[in-house]
Amino acid sequence: MAFPATRPRRLRSSAPLRDLVRETDLGAGRLVLPLFVAAEGPPRAPIAAMPVVDRVSVAEAVKDAGEACALGLGAVLLFGWAGPQDKDEQGSGAWDEQGVVQLVTRAIKDAHPELLVITDTCLCQYTSHGHCGFVREDGTVENDASIELIARAAVSQARAGADMVAPSDMMDGRIGAVRAALDAEGLTNTPILAYSAKFASAFYGPFREAVGSAPAFGDRRGYQMDPGNGEEAVREALLDVQEGADIVMVKPALPYLDVIRRVKDATKLPVAAYNVSGEYAMVKAAAAAGYLDERAVVLETLTAFRRAGADIVITYHAKDAARWLQT
Ligand code: PBG
Repeated sequence: MAFPATRPRRLRSSAPLRDLVRETDLGAGRLVLPLFVAAEGPPRAPIAAMPVVDRVSVAEAVKDAGEACALGLGAVLLFGWAGPQDKDEQGSGAWDEQGVVQLVTRAIKDAHPELLVITDTCLCQYTSHGHCGFVREDGTVENDASIELIARAAVSQARAGADMVAPSDMMDGRIGAVRAALDAEGLTNTPILAYSAKFASAFYGPFREAVGSAPAFGDRRGYQMDPGNGEEAVREALLDVQEGADIVMVKPALPYLDVIRRVKDATKLPVAAYNVSGEYAMVKAAAAAGYLDERAVVLETLTAFRRAGADIVITYHAKDAARWLQT
């Protein structure tokens, strides 16, 4: 039946009707808040291109985690910042029992045991060269040596109390290596959130300032994915599933909505979308200039990630969004 019997506008005629038939919901429990934590320095240090987001001390991170908990957010995702003296060729700060992520994980789990803590597992914040793996003399990033180091970092984070580990390096075989290492330590119930389809993106710029992880030479295109590749993203996700991933991620989110949908359809696993630092910076800048209505744009964007197939959205807007969803 067509017009005039059929009128799609009928179900759009009032707010309660629109609420009743909306296909996609957005709740605070779907949102994950990233936190940048430094073991030294001021309690809070601003990040140039990320208004409102600070790099914080362990004590401040515990407070932020408390706020995340009170707002009903799904989890926090922890990133460490290491000073130059704490960086080395291998990135050993990543598996140091007294490393910043290990310290803050323990502190947050002590203060807020009910809050889910996910740790980003990577070497780039701790390597002197800023790459996500072990660098050979010819400057290439060596795969098989790197995954052993990444697995070591994951075990150390899980031992510190992380509820879930999230390898973000894009080395081949790292999910299998992390799973085997966790299992060998009896950590068989620690889930892995795999950064499966992580693209070599210009949208990570503000983040690299936040944690001081910009590569000292070259770029990440030898391990992160080419932005033109959707089939390969699905293949990467399926490989991670085979290796034992519990949740798969697509990152960045906004320019890759099609990839989120394809990965969701192909894996049938929970899918996370990472609404990255550059996406956040664009919205903040446009809102500050008065060009966009921040609240409306953020809620529309987060809903779009859910509609595309994301079960979980990692976003720097998480606290604001949770507040807006309450009112
Ligand atoms: C570390 C890592 C990056 C991000 C998350 N984990 C940066 C990168 O790969 O250079 C980006 C997050 C963001 O931009 O918000 N490997």
